[in-house]
Amino acid sequence: MQLQGRVVVVTGGASGLGASLTRAFADVGSHVVVADRDAAAALDLVTELREQGRAATKCRCDVTDEDDLSRLVSVADGLGGVHVLVNNAGGWGGSPEQYPDAPAEDWSAVLDLNLRAPMRLLQLALAGMRARGEGAVVNVASSAGIESSAYGSPPYAVAKAGLVRLTTSLAGLTDEGIRVSCVVPGWIGLPRAYAEWAAMAPDERERGPDLVPPELVADEVVRLVREDTAAGTVVELLDGSHRRVVQPDR
Ligand SMILES: NC(=O)c1ccc[n+]([C@@H]2O[C@H](COP(=O)([O-])OP(=O)(O)OC[C@H]3O[C@@H](n4cnc5c(N)ncnc54)[C@H](O)[C@@H]3O)[C@@H](O)[C@H]2O)c1
Repeated sequence: MQLQGRVVVVTGGASGLGASLTRAFADVGSHVVVADRDAAAALDLVTELREQGRAATKCRCDVTDEDDLSRLVSVADGLGGVHVLVNNAGGWGGSPEQYPDAPAEDWSAVLDLNLRAPMRLLQLALAGMRARGEGAVVNVASSAGIESSAYGSPPYAVAKAGLVRLTTSLAGLTDEGIRVSCVVPGWIGLPRAYAEWAAMAPDERERGPDLVPPELVADEVVRLVREDTAAGTVVELLDGSHRRVVQPDR
């Protein structure tokens, strides 16, 4: 897909990996809708991009809120429609009490943010994509969703595994010109990660994977959209140097 002038919605696009995604799409000439519940951070990034002559629009949006999602799609429709959706908002907050000990509303909220919200937004964006006969969705999963070891937040791992399977199970949308793909990053080299990394014991650091630069993930996401990669493709970026592409079965 040619990305110049196309409308790209990045959820959680104001900071963290989302900011790298926003910058990467703005750099190739897309109009990025920065959809984030942190309105101030979204405004800061949009202002910075506009000062650089890039096209960007902020939209305050909590992706777990149905009305916010509808408004987000309306904002994008006003700019020409959602040509590309990047389902990036996610996380689990590191709460010490986790499933099966956490209250149901706590772990349900993790499933809502990391799985239900991307599924719902994809559904809302699909109508316009179908009408145009073209569209791309990239889901941001996590190594937590493909590992087989114990994990601190089981609902987060379950939700991210679900995103990977959502991607492959929607490969059939390619018949309508819509390609859903997915990136699976390991631990991303954001400032927060470097602080945690620095606090680790040397042997712990030695055992852990290398951090994945956020720009590497963002470039991969742009490539998945721009190069019309096969629908259902999942790209694992588990450290800074290994890239594994998993193509769907035919
Ligand atoms: N950080 C990592 O090491 C890592 C590793 C693998 C996968 N991931 C995934 O990458 C994505 C981005 O991670 P990150 O660490 O940059 O996230 P983050 O916690 O830094 O948050 C990024 C942005 O998302 C926004 N956000 C959070 N909840 C939101 C909501 N309900 N609605 C709208 N916006 C919301 C925040 O305001 C923030 O601007 C997530 O899906 C995460 O699961 C992260």
